[in-house]
Amino acid sequence: MESIRGSAGRSFYVGLLEALIEVMGTAKGYLFSHGARVALLSQAIGKEMGLPQAEQAELLFSAVLSDLGMIGLAEDAWVNPVLVLPDEARERVKGHPERSEATVAGIPYLESIAPLVRHHHEWWDGGGYPDGLAGEQIPVGARILRLADTVAALGEPRPQRPAIDADTIRQIVEGAIGTEFDAEVVKVYFALEDSERVPDFHHTTFYRASIEATADLIPEQISALSGREFLEIMGSLIDAKDPYTAGHSHRVATLGTLLCEVLGVGETLAETVWSGGFLHDLGKISVPLAVLSKTGRLNEEERRSIEQHAATGAEILAAIPGLRHLSPACRYHHERWDGSGYPEGLSGSRIPLVARILGVCDAYDAMTSNRSYRPARTHAEAVQEIASETGGHFGPVVALAFLEISKDQFTEVRARSEAPGTEPPSRRSVRTRFAAGPR
Ligand SMILES: [Fe+2]
Ligand SMILES: [Fe+2]
Ligand SMILES: [Fe+2]
Repeated sequence: MESIRGSAGRSFYVGLLEALIEVMGTAKGYLFSHGARVALLSQAIGKEMGLPQAEQAELLFSAVLSDLGMIGLAEDAWVNPVLVLPDEARERVKGHPERSEATVAGIPYLESIAPLVRHHHEWWDGGGYPDGLAGEQIPVGARILRLADTVAALGEPRPQRPAIDADTIRQIVEGAIGTEFDAEVVKVYFALEDSERVPDFHHTTFYRASIEATADLIPEQISALSGREFLEIMGSLIDAKDPYTAGHSHRVATLGTLLCEVLGVGETLAETVWSGGFLHDLGKISVPLAVLSKTGRLNEEERRSIEQHAATGAEILAAIPGLRHLSPACRYHHERWDGSGYPEGLSGSRIPLVARILGVCDAYDAMTSNRSYRPARTHAEAVQEIASETGGHFGPVVALAFLEISKDQFTEVRARSEAPGTEPPSRRSVRTRFAAGPR
């Protein structure tokens, strides 16, 4: 199918993987690079233990993606040991390996890391979670991850304590042999340390390792649908950040596709709108949940923190060759036709068309969804608002085209976003009124 050209290639798929790794780094705030540290240490231990190349690659991806299931949990759940959390939070944290597993199991070509992700909090003595596996029941990769995660975390500063020095870390690890850790894994780690072969963390080292791991795990020829499947998963992860936005990215992508049909734009732009719809709020993953879900008035700093999502997402995408073309969709989707939007206050046709298209779809979906600070408005109210803001908030061409979409189609878009499968709306379902193309 013509329209999936852009999202069918390997570079697009690999780009999504890079974006996911990058955004997971930013999601942890000041824990940035924690996953990368765990990855490098795990790989060094795995290599020393003689694991095959492909399993070393699996270690890298497991290390950076094992906490995907933490997205949407409060910030203190990310940084505090599970034991000090209140009961309710503790249970939710303990569910994260299973949520992470469910996510990675759906990402084409990464299915093999699912068991490592599921078991990265199991303890050698059976005291871990989620399954309480013990000893050699735990996949060896997961045993390596457990040690590397602890060692990396102890060596990093946290809000409640400074970074812990190497000698103390060694004592802590020694004391947990046979309870939390596999003695064999610890032995290998100590051997690396004694011979000063524990890898120093450096962004370029990690970057190189992730390129190699990608080459080891992702085939040269990938299935045409894998990029789209991955795109849908990325959208769900972004939406999972905020309990009020379930299905939002999916709806913005499908509404954007309908709008492209009405506007009669070319395939390339339609494809960019579709992919950009799923990723437009990518930067939200790094906005603190406390700010995103606040019900009261935002102060200046909080407002800036939320607005930052547009630039953060755009910067991540701009640095990734396979996704660079989607960066403007992220950066400019909150600009307004009259220049009153952000981040740059662009006005009129200086706002890229892709962002104007996504902007109106985004605004409609936000209005018709419940938010932490207000209930949903009706379809009629939202449409009325778009009509009255034509030439104000919204560009006239895209707004008038948007108003051509029928009520039934909106209902269908919402239903699709709540059911699995991402097939774009039927191409014949919209009358093409602006066939000459938008100005
Ligand atoms: Fe974890
Ligand atoms: Fe946004
Ligand atoms: Fe949005």
